Amino acid sequence: MQSVKTVQDVRSQSKEWKKQGLSVGLVPTMGYLHAGHASLIRRARAENDRVVVSIFCNPMQFGPAEDLASYPRDLAHDSALCQELGADLIFHPEPSAMYDAAFCSFVDMNILPATLCGKSRPVHFRGVCTVVAKLLNIVQPDNAYFGQKDAQQLAIIRRMVADLNIDVTIHGCPIVREHDGLAMSSRNTYLSGEERQAALVLSQAVQLGQALFAQGETRAANLLEPMRKHIESQPLARIDYLQAVDGLTMQPISSVCAPALVAMAVYIGKTRLLDNFIIE
Ligand code: PAF
Repeated sequence: MQSVKTVQDVRSQSKEWKKQGLSVGLVPTMGYLHAGHASLIRRARAENDRVVVSIFCNPMQFGPAEDLASYPRDLAHDSALCQELGADLIFHPEPSAMYDAAFCSFVDMNILPATLCGKSRPVHFRGVCTVVAKLLNIVQPDNAYFGQKDAQQLAIIRRMVADLNIDVTIHGCPIVREHDGLAMSSRNTYLSGEERQAALVLSQAVQLGQALFAQGETRAANLLEPMRKHIESQPLARIDYLQAVDGLTMQPISSVCAPALVAMAVYIGKTRLLDNFIIE
């Protein structure tokens, strides 16, 4: 497995592979890899001749009061995991290699980023779109893999790729959960023992919503209200949002029918966690 830091190195290797007729899969990550990332890398491994994992904690997608400085990092562990999973190349640039001093172009989007996470993280999706567009341009993969836990991010990336005619197939992969249901996230590492236990209200609320939908409930308010009550029964939990939205536009819906997304962001103590379920 190669490990490279410059745009030039990853680009020339990827071009070489394409010249040989090999397909390339890209798994973009911010590092501190867990079983959720591993599932993306495994899928990329199964579906492509060559697999690139990017590890870049993208400063542009963090707001000034957010956790860029404390975001967990462990390149040695990440490299070992990528090697074990059969990745061919890790791209881990320094911020200066991605954004030089004169950098001033951004990928911005209307509508989809205006709801859910975009409301409380106003600069987030501009940073995500910009870095993902750059990574897709640098690697020029045939396939790119993203987790469904960040469902709004996935919808936004699909929209961006369609709008900008980027020649790549985007794959969304299911949420990977801990044995007790907590959705895997690099930010789970911030939780104390007590908070870790309290964080189970997110996946329990997801299960509740799914069960109500399976019983035939399609009115968003009737799905969301019991979920809200359940989350609010946990004293350490504070809801940022809990909403049902159209699965493509991310706009609120009152009646839940496919494609739809029921998504939440909940603070457990100071840690903001996401969970969701999709109706396809
Ligand atoms: O989901 C993430 O880890 C990041 O938002 C991504 C897609 C790697 C862009 O920095």
